[in-house]
Amino acid sequence: MTNATRVTAPRGGNATETTILVMVGAPGAGKGTQTALLGERLGLPAVSTGDLFRAALREGSPLGVTVRPYLERGELVPDAVTIAVIADRLAQPDAARGVILDGFPRTRAQAEALDRLCAGRGTRVMGALYVEVELEMLVDRLSGRRVCSGPEAHVYHVRSRAPRVEGRCDSDGTALDHRVDDRPETVRRRLEGQMAPMFEVIDHYSERGVLSAVRGDQTVEAVTTDLLAAIERCRRRPGA
Ligand code: AP5
Repeated sequence: MTNATRVTAPRGGNATETTILVMVGAPGAGKGTQTALLGERLGLPAVSTGDLFRAALREGSPLGVTVRPYLERGELVPDAVTIAVIADRLAQPDAARGVILDGFPRTRAQAEALDRLCAGRGTRVMGALYVEVELEMLVDRLSGRRVCSGPEAHVYHVRSRAPRVEGRCDSDGTALDHRVDDRPETVRRRLEGQMAPMFEVIDHYSERGVLSAVRGDQTVEAVTTDLLAAIERCRRRPGA
């Protein structure tokens, strides 16, 4: 075990007793895979706006009706809707010690809104972790992805992370589906439309000195190790 993998739980006692971490990366970069692993490791809830939107779709709630056309087209949901969803989620008791945000913020306006939400709680984003992956690899990852229909939406890949039994989730045995936005034409639209706002988010955190980039084109385990090391560096930053 390396020093990096020894990071187990968030430390309190400084300005950021609430640990807010943000995962940034293109669609398919591995944010969801890594957020789930880091959440277990650090004892923090993993909060994915994509998962919250897909749950709303399945329930057929008013939020689901609002977001459906955006998800189906592979476009970003309007900022006002997304920010309200996150504000509500961060107000839940399990988020009191912090969260790892997966897929939020995705625009500069969302990043600024998150800063305000954090300031209102006397905290701030401790680290923004950018998982960097080349375009061709993103297309392969998204086209081969399968997701379970259980509440935790476990993620697989037909080649790199295949389930033990084809088409079935190892954890809860539910059927594995192809996500509606993983169709080739929607993947293209997501990659074309979502990169420019993502780079604005990267600039936002770079300007604040909290951005750390890790190479996402390694094994899942190697990416986790690098992310844990990056989180440890974030913790040691003055004022973190
Ligand atoms: P969301 O669910 O957030 O999707 P995304 O950002 O497009 O990211 P993905 O979930 O596609 O990829 P990921 O980076 O999590 O990769 P994963 O770990 O699954 O958002 C969906 C939609 O909701 C958006 O398009 C938008 O409409 C809306 N939305 C969400 N948030 C929003 C916001 N803030 N504002 C506005 N709209 C919003 O990995 C991908 C595949 O690769 C898997 O098969 C996995 O097994 C495999 N894999 C992962 N890591 C590795 C590795 N190291 N090696 C080999 N394979 C790997």
